[in-house]
Amino acid sequence: MLIDILTIFPEFFTSPIGVGNVKIAREKGLLDLRITDIRDYSRDRHRKVDDYGFGGGPGMVMMVQPIYDALKEIKDEKAHVVLFTPRGNTLTQNRVNELKEMEHLVFICGRYKGIDARLEHFVDEEISIGDYVVSGGEYAALIVIDAVARLMPGVIGDIDSAMEDSYSSGLLDAPRYTRPREFMGMKVPDVLLSGNHKEIEKWRRTESLKLTLARKPYLLKEDSLNEEDRKIIKNLRNRDGKEE
Ligand code: ADE
Repeated sequence: MLIDILTIFPEFFTSPIGVGNVKIAREKGLLDLRITDIRDYSRDRHRKVDDYGFGGGPGMVMMVQPIYDALKEIKDEKAHVVLFTPRGNTLTQNRVNELKEMEHLVFICGRYKGIDARLEHFVDEEISIGDYVVSGGEYAALIVIDAVARLMPGVIGDIDSAMEDSYSSGLLDAPRYTRPREFMGMKVPDVLLSGNHKEIEKWRRTESLKLTLARKPYLLKEDSLNEEDRKIIKNLRNRDGKEE
């Protein structure tokens, strides 16, 4: 996969793309990252890429021309152009799984008050990383790059581990424990020390369902639940009802 990143802060990416799963994906030749400085496409002597917004008000707006010119040079017929903005669709694991299949992604990292609205005509998708504002699309781009890279074959040594993550099964992951068996009086649940893999799986599934039901019930999709899950959820709901 090729990811082109359009940014006014190319240096923002230097360290993060050189560590962890993104580094591994690049070294394995699975991920090619190309960073383009939007200022290189400015027609201004001072490499200006922003201007005052029409109609007044505070904050600068990124001009459409430098980004359009950069896109024109970078885009091929396979390119899927993503603009990062709080206005976009909120990123989900499902969407990450789909983006992972694309051959060429082009990420536009917005700054200031936003980008001239006419850029919309040259964008395939707008993505938000959540209902809050960060200083620029660079933060969002890094999140998507990592989320995609870690799913590439052979990047995470233990592929089962990626499959068991929160969200990949549509549920939050069960609590995890490591040594010591007891810390400040708090003990690791007995079942995890029992060696009984069937019971451990059952416990994990119940804890996953419990956590998801309590914290992110909107993740529980009817079609991803089996008969056993439904029984567990029914019991959990009954129990909670009685406790109230
Ligand atoms: N740029 C600023 N805030 C953002 C957000 N929440 N998601 C994506 N891009 C952004």
